[in-house]
Amino acid sequence: MRTSCVTADDALPLALVDYLQKAERIAVLTGAGMSAESGVPTFREAQTGLWERYDPLELATPEAFERDPQLVWDWYQWRRELVERSVPNAGHLALAELQKRIPGFTLITQNVDGLHELAGSEEVLELHGNICRSICSRTRQRINPEWLARHCGQSPIPSPHHPQGLVRPDVVWFRESLDSYTLQRAIEAAADCQLMLVIGTSGLVHPAASIPMLAVERNALMIEVNPAASELSRHARWRLDGSAATWLPRLVAALRS
Ligand code: OAD
Repeated sequence: MRTSCVTADDALPLALVDYLQKAERIAVLTGAGMSAESGVPTFREAQTGLWERYDPLELATPEAFERDPQLVWDWYQWRRELVERSVPNAGHLALAELQKRIPGFTLITQNVDGLHELAGSEEVLELHGNICRSICSRTRQRINPEWLARHCGQSPIPSPHHPQGLVRPDVVWFRESLDSYTLQRAIEAAADCQLMLVIGTSGLVHPAASIPMLAVERNALMIEVNPAASELSRHARWRLDGSAATWLPRLVAALRS
């Protein structure tokens, strides 16, 4: 099967529209590119200002946190503030709309920014956690943010050290395992879908990147939305060349037509 590349100037292929209109079970996998137009930098983009000289792939690790918890905490605090200033873009809103129209719709995300939920998406499978939550690094119990702010006497929390130990963001770091229940639900949705929509991911990080492959192996058709070719592009039937906020509203409009 050859991948067809569709650019923003092209009309949506009729076969794609037909497939979309008939699909009863759709699974969607989103990555950092989904939130790029909300102002959240993608993972592999250069960091700005203070963080320019740090590699996110080095900071998002248990070893980095063990070595220097304050540095990792400060980096997440910077990203949290970015996320707090961001709002869902037209792509996030279009996916929330798609969910209302398709009975068997599952949204799987690698993003930790919570923008899908803010856009109105429900039951989002957050494979890599959520940056807005904190957990105890020893017990992995969620920590109530008001409790944390009270004990640290300040908000935002200036330090990962609190009276009972170390606090960390509730995210999955490199070399850590994903929550098995969330992963299992994502796998089931991919294995059972007719259409797999892959948006804004480089397809480099596993097991997330294996999820669309599973769908394709089970004969689902893959559509990718990305302004650049990714590791997954060659498995897509169509690559919609462009941004999430451009293409996703067009897909919703095609569904209505
Ligand atoms: P990356 O930063 O690796 O890739 C972002 C992708 O988004 C690239 O393929 C871009 O071409 C694409 N992109 C950029 N702008 C876009 C836009 N406006 N619309 C659509 N696509 C756009 O991010 P991920 O692939 O999501 O994991 O990274 C996967 C995981 O690696 C992350 O969840 C994180 C990480 O490092 C952990 O932290 C465990």
